[in-house]
Amino acid sequence: MSQGTRESTETPPEPTAWSPSSWRAYPALHQPEWPDPEKAEAARARLASLPPLVFAGEARQLRDALGEVAAGRAFVLQAGDCAESFHDFSAPLIRDKLKILLQMAAVLTYGGMLPVVKVGRIAGQFAKARTSATETVDGVELTSFRGHMVHGEAPTLEARVPDPERMLQVYHQSAATLNLLRAFTKGGFADLMQVHAWNQEFVANSPEGRRYEVIASEIERALRFMAACGIDLTSAPQLHQIDFWTSHEGLVLDHEEGLTRRDSLTGEWYDCSAHTLWIGERTRQPDGAHVEFFSGVNNPIGCKIGPDASPEDVLLLCERLNPGRIPGRLTLISRMGADRIFDLLPPLLRAVHEAGHPVAWVCDPMHANVFTTESGLKTRHLDAIMGEIEGFFAAHRQEGTWPGGVHLEFTGEDVTECLGGSEEVHEDDLNLRYMTLCDPRLNARQSLDLAFRVAELMRRYPTAR
Ligand code: PEP
Ligand code: CO
Repeated sequence: MSQGTRESTETPPEPTAWSPSSWRAYPALHQPEWPDPEKAEAARARLASLPPLVFAGEARQLRDALGEVAAGRAFVLQAGDCAESFHDFSAPLIRDKLKILLQMAAVLTYGGMLPVVKVGRIAGQFAKARTSATETVDGVELTSFRGHMVHGEAPTLEARVPDPERMLQVYHQSAATLNLLRAFTKGGFADLMQVHAWNQEFVANSPEGRRYEVIASEIERALRFMAACGIDLTSAPQLHQIDFWTSHEGLVLDHEEGLTRRDSLTGEWYDCSAHTLWIGERTRQPDGAHVEFFSGVNNPIGCKIGPDASPEDVLLLCERLNPGRIPGRLTLISRMGADRIFDLLPPLLRAVHEAGHPVAWVCDPMHANVFTTESGLKTRHLDAIMGEIEGFFAAHRQEGTWPGGVHLEFTGEDVTECLGGSEEVHEDDLNLRYMTLCDPRLNARQSLDLAFRVAELMRRYPTAR
């Protein structure tokens, strides 16, 4: 696995016409070093022959929804695993993730009185960029785990050899996951009349779960009230179905290129592996392969923005990724750390605002608040996560811009990976149910707790935009 360039070029290449493979002439960081390039090319060609996972028209609908976020009229909830797993793949796991996302969205919609755009880190989130190229386990130096798209997680030299066939397994698992999500969200499971059913047993008995029951009952009463007034609720699809969108980090460009298709309606290119993709903090170089690739596909695109980003860097990314200034095309996902966000974010908000770029700003309060405990487990504290979200709202309030959403790592399971919460997880508890393949995730109760607190921030935020 190379941290360096795939095809190292001393000077940036002359700009050429964009194509799904034009990224190959640019420095591509964090790409798997497939041992057999012919096998990798065969896997990419196979992906290129398979049906797309999403339709271009859906990506355009999501772009319009995110345009509403950029304009301050909606809020994004983007959440899911740090890294999806080939092993933890079942209907109950997908259903439980959807349940907690629906609960959080209900709390945010009810509390913030705004539409919530629901995006999963799901059905494709299988590749990781890692800060350290290697890790040492029991004295053996191994390539760091890069996600199931690339290799296995077992701490052996054999398991960590990249295998391009895994890109096809990702495709099939993503297709099955997306199929079930579409069935749940369009087939009745996400019906607002089911608002009580999303409260799982181990959540329902917690303070957050009881608080959720109150809101769920109020929503139910409001629906019954409207029905009693003679409004025909059966004919309002918004009450019975939701739009749920998929996303992942567009990291392994062989995979993304393989799933890129020209839309038959518009002739434009779309990366049909997900509705929206984001560029990670480690691969957002304006003259790098990832920015080149995503500059040419027409999906809504996200880009992580970490503490090193200057206003000039951010403006360059805006120009490269959204020269047409289309609202909803570009979401900037800041991840600065609870201690630094209030200092670092305002100059970026100001520069983007003054340049007139219609950006949706989203807060990732997870990735700059990680630390390792004495026993060697990576964790985050809910207080730091909330602290970063509060700093995000405060920075936007100061600059008169819109804090458009949150980007979280969570799971529907009852894990002990992040510290804190009302039923507090302590350092000694982390080992009880620490199950993540990569970064620590909020459990269902901590996620719901967070949703209530974010709803409160939304409620207090000036809405005259
Ligand atoms: C992630 O979202 O899992 C991630 C690795 O984030 P970042 O690129 O911001 O570090
Ligand atoms: Co992560």
